[in-house]
Amino acid sequence: MTKIKNLPLSLFWVLLLTQASTLVTNEEDTRVNSSCLPGERAALLTLKVGFVDPKHRLSSWEGHDCCSWSGITCSKATGHVVKLDLSNTYISNPEWDVSPDDSYALGGEIRSSLLSLRYLNYLDLSYNDFNYTKIPHFIGSLNELRYLHLSSSNFGGIIPPELGNLSKLQYLDLSSNYLIDGNIPSQLGNLSNLQYLDLSWNYEIYSNDVAWLAHLTSLKLMDLSSVNFSSSINWERLGMLPHLQALYLSFCELNETTFSLSHVNFTKLLTFDLSENEFSNPQSLIWVWNMTGLKSVDLSHNNFDGRLFNAFKNMNSIEELQLGWNNLMDMKSSDLKNLTNLKILGLTGNQLTRDITKFMEDLSLYRLQYLDLGWNNFYGNLSGWIGRMTSLTNLFLDGNNLSGPIPLSIRRLTQLIDLGLSYNNFHSVVTEKHLSRMTNLATIDLSGNSLSLIVPANWLPPFRLRFAYLSSCRLGPKFPEWLKWKTNIIKLDISNTSITDEVPVWFWHVFSKALYLDLSKNNLSGFMPESLEFMSVTYLFLSENQFQGLVPRLSKSLSILDLSKNAFSGFLPSNWKKLILEGINLRQNSLNGSIPQFICQLKQLEFLDLSRNFLVGNIPNCGRSNPDPNKKNDSRLALNTNKSFVEQKYYAKLTSLFLSYNNLSGEFPKHLTHFSSLIALNLENNNFFGRIPPWIAKKLPSLRLLLLGSNRFNGTIPDQLFQLEQLQILDLSNNNLNGIVPCSMKTLKLMTIKDVTDMGPGASDLITEWWLFILDYIMMIVIEVDTKGELLDFKRNILDFKSLDLSGNNLVGNIPEEIGALEGLTNLNLSRNKLSGFIPRSIGNLQLLESLDFSNNELSGSIPSSLADLTFLSHLNMSYNNLSGRIPSGHQLQTLNDSSIYEGNNGLCGFPLPIECSESKITSQSFVSENKNSHEFYVGAIIGFAVGAWMVYGIFIFSTSWRVAYFVIVDNMYDKLYVFVILNWARSTWK
Ligand SMILES: *[C@@H]1O[C@H](CO)[C@@H](O)[C@H](O)[C@H]1NC(C)=O
Ligand SMILES: *[C@@H]1O[C@H](CO)[C@@H](O)[C@H](O)[C@H]1NC(C)=O
Repeated sequence: MTKIKNLPLSLFWVLLLTQASTLVTNEEDTRVNSSCLPGERAALLTLKVGFVDPKHRLSSWEGHDCCSWSGITCSKATGHVVKLDLSNTYISNPEWDVSPDDSYALGGEIRSSLLSLRYLNYLDLSYNDFNYTKIPHFIGSLNELRYLHLSSSNFGGIIPPELGNLSKLQYLDLSSNYLIDGNIPSQLGNLSNLQYLDLSWNYEIYSNDVAWLAHLTSLKLMDLSSVNFSSSINWERLGMLPHLQALYLSFCELNETTFSLSHVNFTKLLTFDLSENEFSNPQSLIWVWNMTGLKSVDLSHNNFDGRLFNAFKNMNSIEELQLGWNNLMDMKSSDLKNLTNLKILGLTGNQLTRDITKFMEDLSLYRLQYLDLGWNNFYGNLSGWIGRMTSLTNLFLDGNNLSGPIPLSIRRLTQLIDLGLSYNNFHSVVTEKHLSRMTNLATIDLSGNSLSLIVPANWLPPFRLRFAYLSSCRLGPKFPEWLKWKTNIIKLDISNTSITDEVPVWFWHVFSKALYLDLSKNNLSGFMPESLEFMSVTYLFLSENQFQGLVPRLSKSLSILDLSKNAFSGFLPSNWKKLILEGINLRQNSLNGSIPQFICQLKQLEFLDLSRNFLVGNIPNCGRSNPDPNKKNDSRLALNTNKSFVEQKYYAKLTSLFLSYNNLSGEFPKHLTHFSSLIALNLENNNFFGRIPPWIAKKLPSLRLLLLGSNRFNGTIPDQLFQLEQLQILDLSNNNLNGIVPCSMKTLKLMTIKDVTDMGPGASDLITEWWLFILDYIMMIVIEVDTKGELLDFKRNILDFKSLDLSGNNLVGNIPEEIGALEGLTNLNLSRNKLSGFIPRSIGNLQLLESLDFSNNELSGSIPSSLADLTFLSHLNMSYNNLSGRIPSGHQLQTLNDSSIYEGNNGLCGFPLPIECSESKITSQSFVSENKNSHEFYVGAIIGFAVGAWMVYGIFIFSTSWRVAYFVIVDNMYDKLYVFVILNWARSTWK
């Protein structure tokens, strides 16, 4: 389970935590100077031997005085070890990271010598890595334990029932491990002193019954999030916990049938989290609505509708209410009016369609600190109401239809930490006056509007930003100098901001600690620094600018690099070997030389696009290391080389290789057999030659896209190629291929299927995030090819685009009848070959065809009337064959009334030709016009497809590059949580 654990949103949690950690240690916790007891010392040393400790965190564990070793606390009175804290608290870069650094994790074995520490009352092994081993059952024999914290340490297996013997336990946290396939042991019900229980976010633990709750009468906090509760459980026990203050049941697959409580005893409940379940009817939670002391309620990600609001009528103790991602479109703001203590309100993603001014005035909660109305349909503007929300620290209005200017009154929001106004229709100028008093501002998101941010050149911002998303705001034409001052930015997006300038030298230094930099789609010019090795950047996007000179030496942290569409020149740098790059995009520059061998050593590489450069030579042979010329004749070495040949299968990660429009040459690269994960291969418009090898289907079984067009491949099309079951787009056009069209069509399985979901089980595996990205990417590439083709509307889902293009070769023989098996095809092009015989009647099976081109062949006979069945057909070309007889009519064909579709056939008659069919012999050249360029037509079709699909997947295009959409979503979530934690921390310290 890779779900992010919900971070605590309320301060109660923090308070409880602080309480919990002081539970135990108040009696006897200070270190003594005297050395520890020898038996315990020996036990600890044995424990140390069992641990794997890559960063030597236990290096202080030597010498006699074990009480002074790190992580150990002894009792002042008795000298016994009472506390063992080996939690991995090492955080690699506290500037931007809040989670522990895995490389400092302890691992290995937890030895049973631990049992010799008989007086241990505190054990913390959290945030380590025990490699999915079980929690040792002997921990249940540490009778004195009061505090047991094993969270996030990659423990696997079941929860050992022996933990139920720890009768003094007050705190138990087993959250975020991989505890699987086990019921929660009923023995845990013996822990009558337990105050804190957290079993959340494990892989798959379940509970058939909650009888074990019976004796946990001391519980104050219980987190069972992600525990799977099977259908019918008697929950009444839960109601009997008198001291419960916080209850988390997020992501438990609960609904009103499976979770019901008639009577509850807990009057002290402050925090209740039922998010990510399947509730729709608030009636079933009637006990919650009677709870007058409740302060924090999270019901987000359920199916509640407008009925919910009645429920809140009497709950004016509530300070935090999270209702995002429900169906609350009917909600009226007056529904919440009574909640006069509300400070935190989340209503994101509820399809609320309201005038925001009216909504906020009715709500009249002017003391809100946190307001999230994002991703609804709010309209109207910010004037008036915004200036009254002076307590706001976090404001999210992203993804609505708000318009108008950003009013100056926003400057009254002096507490703001987080400001999200992205993806609305705001248009105006934002100046330093708007922002001058927001001294705490850490995140600003103005992207996706028509705003201009205009500040004086010498402006000194009053805040230290951490996240700045300003994409598509107007910042230029000068490079914004203010970014230089007081910057603490982790993520900066100033793509498409009309900057026409050189990037100042300070930029690279001021932003040397940033992780994410997007400067694409500007007019940035000049040279980059020779080396970026001093930078921490992980995602660097500089595409669509005018950078020139050499590609810089890169930083080791870089994972995704996009320098496409610039004017970089020269050879590729040679220091990339040690990098962990996952994606490189250098498309459309002026790079020359050959593709360096080190490409093979980028073990993480998944995506490589070097298209549209001036690269020459072969694709480097990744299968073998370079032979050492001095030892050429050593046969032993040859053996070794062979071995490494086998071992080097690691490039299996590469899924997408785009090398089109270069001057690469050679035969189809044999060593591509090693890239068995390839799903997209584009070698178009190079000088590759020789035969298309028969092994492609066997060695590259995942290929979805194979583009080999406009090379010099010759020989026949191997039958085996058509065994690529997942192939969706095949282009072999404009080569010198001869022989016949293989008839084994059925084995192109994906092309035979009209709807991917018809493929049965496993179909969803084909619709991966990655494949959507690749399609999206191809689309973007094609859309920018500047040809003047006609546009074809591709009306359906991008996933349904399936294309077979064998045009511009020397293929002979018939069009096989089997072509009718490819029922999923939307584009079929066999033009400019020497195909003869009849057009198969089965062509009428290709019901999804939008584009069909058989022109410039030697086809004869009549056009089958089944052609009229192709109701989606919008482009057809049958010209320059020997077809005869009546042109079929009806349906879609009536709309294809351009006579050039049929020109150059001597015997055709009927609409749209001006030749009546009654005359049997017509030899007319009168409507032969200039031969249309079929290649242009093909490109046109693809462009059309792209445009159509753009409508469907338009949202993907906003992301500059691959997978970023996904990253941004995840990361933004993380960012918001981060700020939240800080906020709550700050708040809890005020109290
Ligand atoms: C983790 O366990 C697996 C098998 O259970 C083993 O192959 C692997 O080497 C272990 N890894 C470490 C780091 O101990
Ligand atoms: C609640 O979930 C159970 C088990 O998944 C299901 O059988 C039941 O129909 C659901 N009830 C409602 C009201 O959705």
